[in-house]
Amino acid sequence: MTVTAASLIKTATGFYEAQALFAAVELGVFARVSSGPVPLSTLQDDLGLHANVAADFLDALVAMRLLTRTDAGYAATPAARAYLTPGAPEYIGGFLTLNQRRLYPAWGDLTSFLKNAENLAHGAKVDDPMPALYATPQRTRSFAEGMDGYATLLGRPLSEKFDWASVKSFADLGGCRGMLTTRVAAAHPHLQGVTFDLAPLNPLFDELVASVTGTTDLASRVRFQAGSFFTDPLPETEVYIIGHVLHDWVESKRREIIQRAYDHLPAGGTLLIYDSMIDDQREESAFGLLMSLNMALLSGASEYTMAQGQGWLREAGFQVESPVALNELTTLLIGRKPL
Ligand SMILES: C[S@@+](CC[C@H](N)C(=O)[O-])C[C@H]1O[C@@H](n2cnc3c(N)ncnc32)[C@H](O)[C@@H]1O
Repeated sequence: MTVTAASLIKTATGFYEAQALFAAVELGVFARVSSGPVPLSTLQDDLGLHANVAADFLDALVAMRLLTRTDAGYAATPAARAYLTPGAPEYIGGFLTLNQRRLYPAWGDLTSFLKNAENLAHGAKVDDPMPALYATPQRTRSFAEGMDGYATLLGRPLSEKFDWASVKSFADLGGCRGMLTTRVAAAHPHLQGVTFDLAPLNPLFDELVASVTGTTDLASRVRFQAGSFFTDPLPETEVYIIGHVLHDWVESKRREIIQRAYDHLPAGGTLLIYDSMIDDQREESAFGLLMSLNMALLSGASEYTMAQGQGWLREAGFQVESPVALNELTTLLIGRKPL
């Protein structure tokens, strides 16, 4: 990509688009227009938009290809119906809200963080962020909805890009409320799946499983197991998934989690790790590198290169396969425990 003055200005004002998107989700624009065109005046009234700015806001969403505008009014585009309408199978609104409420304010102070991060990033100690996140049921739900909004996108590629035919069971360690467990189990009716995570997520797992329709025996094939991957026995399954987990922890803790996974897997078992990994030369994956700073801001941890991840797998005893791109933002590493 060539950098020009105009491209720099687009980068600098990228937050305009992000905030317009966040506001549209928060206001319920897409839910309101998902079933057909709604006139401007009706939208203004229903969403409480001020007449001075409503048309510019909604037309900006048209220009962002999230709405269409005809004589009948504004309607959701297919992309907005698929990803931004609550209840859609690939709804990512929870992740957008997490970015709006938690990450956007944190990034506002990046300069001072960059000068004062000695106690955080890559340090010897990262406080466990989870007790605060799960302090109340409302906080737990809002965090879980944020994770859902990303995991939902990985359900299909993870179901398709790994050969599930040869295994019968898997566990998603740090699987939150079970979004990925339910997606993989729904895609492969022969599989039994376990979501292994901290106890506060159990009721939200039950709620999610009860809400899944169209997969007759899903409830009998998936279960929640409460526990810590640092201290408790891990589920007895043939495959473990560890996704968006290692980036929460410093390196020594990552090694510990991977080693425990190796020790609990049967011979021939498989460990799948996904994250927004960084290219090995650390010069191409802007998303992975910026996500790394994001993790430093949030929890004092970081992303990591594919080679680093593969190194930890080998160190634990796994045989390592080539990395697989789950989508353009997420890399999957595969480790096999020798027979
Ligand atoms: C960033 S979220 C990732 C969730 C999910 N795997 C995904 O990809 O969306 C990290 C998860 O690790 C879980 N977790 C944190 N500490 C844990 C522990 N000690 N044992 C088990 N799970 C833990 C959290 O509760 C949370 O669900």
